[in-house]
Amino acid sequence: MKKVILFVFLLMSVIFLAACGGNEATEPTDDGSTPGTDDGGNDIQEITIKFSHVVAENTPKHQGALAMKEYIESNSNGKIKFEIYPNSSLFGDQDEYQNLVSNNIQFIAPDLTKFVGNNPQFNVPALPFMFDNDEEAIAFWDGEKGAEVLGSLEADGVLGLSMWPNGGKHLTNDEKAIDSPDDLKGLKFRTQGGQVLESIYKALGAGSESIPFSELYTALDQGVVDGQENTFSNIESKKFDEVQTYMTVMNHTRVDYAVFTNTTFWNELNEATKEIVVAGLAEGTKVARAEAKSLNEKAYETIKERGLVEIIELTPEQVDVFREVMEPIYAEYEDSIGADVIEAAREAAKD
Ligand code: LMR
Repeated sequence: MKKVILFVFLLMSVIFLAACGGNEATEPTDDGSTPGTDDGGNDIQEITIKFSHVVAENTPKHQGALAMKEYIESNSNGKIKFEIYPNSSLFGDQDEYQNLVSNNIQFIAPDLTKFVGNNPQFNVPALPFMFDNDEEAIAFWDGEKGAEVLGSLEADGVLGLSMWPNGGKHLTNDEKAIDSPDDLKGLKFRTQGGQVLESIYKALGAGSESIPFSELYTALDQGVVDGQENTFSNIESKKFDEVQTYMTVMNHTRVDYAVFTNTTFWNELNEATKEIVVAGLAEGTKVARAEAKSLNEKAYETIKERGLVEIIELTPEQVDVFREVMEPIYAEYEDSIGADVIEAAREAAKD
């Protein structure tokens, strides 16, 4: 009889403990994500990871995020949920960083030049005609100086884990066919933000204004600005050609992304979970880097097919005239970006 009572007591205890563990695993935290359950040190935690971004789905960034989701969800036996919020549907340029810091979201991949307020070295993708292609930009961000810049927000509780490319930017506007610096005089362009982009437009005799990506279509439509600069994939997927008349193929500056996470989330991951997230990120990086060029090429073809903008392709001589006007930017920003960082970018651009 004693044995039966003991058995029933032990059984009840196990059920009670299991029930407590279960509650822990499913109750959401303040930030809305599900807390991890480190049930024994090495098991995969039951968590929900949120990746918020501002661009459309048919873009290198979203394709990278999708690859991450697929890898992480299928390799965690369904324990890790990975939610992607594109098109500024959860947070936009103005609030995604703060929400990352607060751990309301666990990943963002913003355009690097949006962080020049935190560290002016994030101006590198805006340095005029620095990188000819994705490979050169990747070589810089994967190198020692690039990694230092990516990692420079740790004091905020933000970790820069990887660089995902988008591509070279091109000018659109609804005033005139631009093929020389003089054509920009008196026009106003939207930029992603940052001192170097501002200086570029100043050097060209134009004005500039930083506007969040989610507000750009309307700003162009309503004439708040005359034009903007972006990659083919962003122009095509957000249909900026509907509200612009001309597009000059320039490749003068770039959109590249920093994949950021926050330390609160990161430090709570156990080994088994972190391993999957890290491998998922590597998968996302592989896909974003592999897809960027072809997605932009396809987008360029679509823009041509839609026929809504007059396209101006500059000759190498015409590009050289722009290059010359923008060259003084390098001396102007040598101190704030750092001669060593600019030199490392130049080295990467030689490959
Ligand atoms: C923009 O704001 O134009 C882009 O940086 C958006 C993006 O994330 O590609």
